[in-house]
Amino acid sequence: MLLYFLHFLLAFKLVLGASYTQSDSHTGIGFLKSFSYQAIPDPTHGRVNYVDAYTAANENLTYASGDHFVLRTDYWTVLDPNGPGRDSVRIQSNKQYTTSVMVFNIRHMPQGCGTWPAVWTVGEDWPNNGEIDVLEGVNDQGPNQATLHTSAGCTMPDWRYEKGNALLDDCNTLLNSNSGCGVKFVDTRSYGPIFNDHGGGWFASERSEAGISVWFWSRDAGTVPYEVEVGNETVDTDNWGEPSAYFPNTDCDIGAKFGPHNIVINLSLCGDWAGSAYGASGCPSTCEDYVDNNPWAFEDAYFDFQWLKIYT
Ligand SMILES: *[C@@H]1O[C@H](CO)[C@@H](O)[C@H](O)[C@H]1NC(C)=O
Ligand SMILES: *[C@@H]1O[C@H](CO)[C@@H](O)[C@H](O)[C@H]1NC(C)=O
Ligand SMILES: *[C@@H]1O[C@H](CO)[C@@H](O)[C@H](O)[C@H]1NC(C)=O
Repeated sequence: MLLYFLHFLLAFKLVLGASYTQSDSHTGIGFLKSFSYQAIPDPTHGRVNYVDAYTAANENLTYASGDHFVLRTDYWTVLDPNGPGRDSVRIQSNKQYTTSVMVFNIRHMPQGCGTWPAVWTVGEDWPNNGEIDVLEGVNDQGPNQATLHTSAGCTMPDWRYEKGNALLDDCNTLLNSNSGCGVKFVDTRSYGPIFNDHGGGWFASERSEAGISVWFWSRDAGTVPYEVEVGNETVDTDNWGEPSAYFPNTDCDIGAKFGPHNIVINLSLCGDWAGSAYGASGCPSTCEDYVDNNPWAFEDAYFDFQWLKIYT
């Protein structure tokens, strides 16, 4: 009986969350030391040209000072429609993580028609080690969307302990044009110009074999847990309340579908999602034409990170 009771407590604890200790903390130039630039063609066909570390520094597309790490697109060059896309940046963490909590303290995210910013984690041999999109959206159309992408055999139940609205339930990349199983947040401050108008905020993810959760608190929410706000040495996700998105392991073997992940921060323009949603977003002209001819429209297309803390 006692053993049974202990088992029950253990299972309950796993479902609710747990305590984690800080293993990595990145601020300002710390981002430059722990991330690498990926000057690769955009696999999602964006109108961008991802540059290397030298070019990014030279063009000030990444900039680190004090507690600012800024990552942006070029906003001064008119492009040749037959030439490469607008210079932009994609960086990937040198370290990989499995069970962990990540807290991103972000002051500003890229905004503007055609922008497709993302903060996400992904494993090698995509999609066999899974993909977790923590922050993502297009063309200033909030709120934020958190999404999983996996190989076949990972679905989400309709009822979940989450604030957001579940979109599709099957995370299989081969279905629904790789839409994945996404959750649209409710708080409009979680994305784009509204996020920026409120001074940004904190995105946090927890990944364990029991499930994956994503929380968001606006800078002026008033409800942000103290340990998140200050980037405490230890955090306990039990104290964080209902997540915006929750992906339990009920019909998805998280341990099998998700391998070691790198963190990726990228800023694309147009491409598969932003391009196809462009007209419906109330944006002018066509996406590629707008990107090619209006560099000044991308002056606010930048991330400004205050810090990133990772707990294991
Ligand atoms: C940028 O991020 C999105 C979001 O997950 C991803 O689907 C896309 O492949 C990324 N593009 C590049 C070039 O990394
Ligand atoms: C580089 O960008 C940062 C952040 O936007 C800005 O504060 C700084 O003045 C820029 N440096 C130059 C040389 O333009
Ligand atoms: C913050 O970290 C300290 C040291 O690990 C811990 O004692 C404390 O419980 C944590 N939480 C808060 C809210 O301070």
